[in-house]
Amino acid sequence: MKEIDLIKDLVSLQSPVEALKSLARVYAGKVVFSTSFGYEDQVITHLLFANEIPVEVFTLDTGRLFPETYSTWNKTLDKYKRPIKVYYPDANAIEKLVTQKGPNSFYESVENRKECCFVRKVEPLKRALKGNAIWVTGIRAEQSANRKDMPQVEWDEANHIIKYHPLLHWTFEEVKDFVGKNNIPYNPLHDKGFVSIGCAPCTRAVKAGEDFRAGRWWWEDSSKKECGLHVHPAMGKALTV
Ligand code: ADX
Ligand code: SF4
Repeated sequence: MKEIDLIKDLVSLQSPVEALKSLARVYAGKVVFSTSFGYEDQVITHLLFANEIPVEVFTLDTGRLFPETYSTWNKTLDKYKRPIKVYYPDANAIEKLVTQKGPNSFYESVENRKECCFVRKVEPLKRALKGNAIWVTGIRAEQSANRKDMPQVEWDEANHIIKYHPLLHWTFEEVKDFVGKNNIPYNPLHDKGFVSIGCAPCTRAVKAGEDFRAGRWWWEDSSKKECGLHVHPAMGKALTV
């Protein structure tokens, strides 16, 4: 049986906590969780820290996050007293990009936007994942059309790692309830209409009934909304969701 199928079996019959514990045991020291401090990620951070599951939690600080995201990050450190490893863009690459194109080049073209996402997120992510076996994310199926059919355990060809999305089938209401009931710190922007929160210049609030991702890179054609963190292999040509 292939390794990925074994993992699928391992997690399919277990709750997220039990599955995370099992993975941390089987792949000791090689399971990492990426957090952007959004609702979903805060649930997973809570599950890991409150249950003392030995999984490294890391974040990619793009340098363009909302002040509210930094305060949520700080509140999380205060509450759990556990480390969150941070990765920054390569200093030379970001200095070169901003010197050549200015601080807001991403509004000018899809190419420029992808270039900024590459320098600020994709390359640091590669460093964060290097040498690890399992990458845990806060992706939920409800978040976008592309995520709807995503498997809970999948192979990430771009980073050569197995991805696990423990909350894939949770609804937004379930996530919100869990955060409330467990007194988990959360990004106050969620109370102002922000559902999916990324970099400040590229994220805005959405109206009731709008797609969860409508507030991300809203000036672009939705078919081009690629950021490069989550590449979807099932779309023929690699598409990011
Ligand atoms: S993105 O591809 O559009 O940027 P999204 O904001 O939906 O991703 O978040 C999906 C998952 O990607 C999060 O649950 C988290 O695991 C990871 N992620 C997104 N942004 C970051 C970040 N800045 N640092 C760490 N992980 C992130
Ligand atoms: Fe750059 Fe915007 Fe991508 Fe953040 S989301 S890395 S600011 S283009």
